[in-house]
Amino acid sequence: MECTNMEQKSPLRNQQMYGQRIYYIETFGCQMNVRDSETAAGLLETLGFSRGTDKDNADLILFNTCCVRDHAEKRVFGNIGALKELKDENPNLIIGVFGCMMQQQEVAEKLYKRFPFVDIVFGTNLLSRLPAFVESADSGARTLAVDENNIQIEDDLPSIRTGKINAFVNINFGCDNFCTYCIVPFVRGRERSREMAAVVEEAKKLVSEGYSEITLLGQNVNSYGKDLPDASFAKLLSLVSGVEGLKRIRFMTSHPKDLSDEMIAAMATLPNVCHHVHLPMQSGSNEVLKQMNRKYTRERYLEIVGKLHAAMPDVELTTDIIVGFPGETEDDFFQTLDLVERVGFASAFTFKYSPRKGTRAATMEDQVPDLIKRDRLRRLNELQEKKSRANNEKYVGVTGLAHVEDCDQRNEPVCYGKFSNFKMVYFPGSPDLIGKYVRVTITNVRKNSLYGKIAE
Ligand code: 5AD
Ligand code: SF4
Repeated sequence: MECTNMEQKSPLRNQQMYGQRIYYIETFGCQMNVRDSETAAGLLETLGFSRGTDKDNADLILFNTCCVRDHAEKRVFGNIGALKELKDENPNLIIGVFGCMMQQQEVAEKLYKRFPFVDIVFGTNLLSRLPAFVESADSGARTLAVDENNIQIEDDLPSIRTGKINAFVNINFGCDNFCTYCIVPFVRGRERSREMAAVVEEAKKLVSEGYSEITLLGQNVNSYGKDLPDASFAKLLSLVSGVEGLKRIRFMTSHPKDLSDEMIAAMATLPNVCHHVHLPMQSGSNEVLKQMNRKYTRERYLEIVGKLHAAMPDVELTTDIIVGFPGETEDDFFQTLDLVERVGFASAFTFKYSPRKGTRAATMEDQVPDLIKRDRLRRLNELQEKKSRANNEKYVGVTGLAHVEDCDQRNEPVCYGKFSNFKMVYFPGSPDLIGKYVRVTITNVRKNSLYGKIAE
């Protein structure tokens, strides 16, 4: 159902030319949201807005919200509330809120009612209509627009990339997996894949703009193409890999249940596909994995890890883990620690389970008390830190190619960039190296980071 509510305010405001106006976007959440904010920026720039770096001088402030974890709602409502002062000082200021959280009708309505000074509230699916919403705000109308249905993929919306050396490229939207803890399928809708040719065209365009590294994005990249004739993620990798000038192709996120042998073979053989897999394990307990509806077991997870290592000895794995899922016992948690011990992730994002309204797990019995969740998270993080350090130690003496992201000139000049397998390395260097590929030999590990020097 779509609900669009345009409420007229008076008097009409803003007689300024668009060209003089500045926008500021604050983004919460994952890479998908970062990419959506890039599109929002592109749309605003077509209206003549230019990018600003802080709220205080902005003529338009946009919040891109996330609702996947934690007390996201409380935080966003707090942040929006704090904008009232700016609006009082500058009544021409336009304030907009969009993103996954606003894709939830109830929450969007609550925000719209609670903050009369917010001009525009809309769900992510309606991003392409941002220019129309801004024009309405200019004529004094408020907008509340939520479309709970999926919309078609719009391939050619303008966007302003924020990544200096790496560009995000969407390959599929939405998710069909309905992991029982997760709100994403409800706010991002069913899986839709972009045509392979559209992705390849975008990659070519990015190379012509100077990018040599891209990250292919999807909630589950491994199921890419299931809604298209004759397409798969492995095929897409192989096509994108052929784009001349593209030196590094990354991708995320991989779902273990859909990670195919064909895809491992593509990764191992295509020279510009990076040897890094972000492979959320979520839990090491088969019972918890079942309750989560993950559709794999710890044994299957280990089997995939084994295959990845066998095909690519230099592969690095990162992961997401949830502790305190409803019904998780001490023994279940032990299984999680055990799997972390066995796999040896380079790093992990670890979370306390938090109930999301409307998901199956939110109504499950045996919710785990917060004190226990906190204790498990602490123990898990302790183990992961130990594993990350051990993983780093193996790099001392290793030489690899770092794609330089930035340089910090504040104290001793230090540049940083990533090896192909996602390991971040630091080394003395100057800003002229940004964007270049530099051979770096690792000399030591400091505070869990790899330090080195430019190789001879
Ligand atoms: N509680 C805690 N963590 C969650 N995640 C998703 N939903 C929840 C939730 N309700 C985590 C998962 C996922 C990552 C993006 O966020 O680990 O992989
Ligand atoms: Fe959420 Fe599961 Fe889909 Fe990932 S695969 S977005 S955790 S439902």
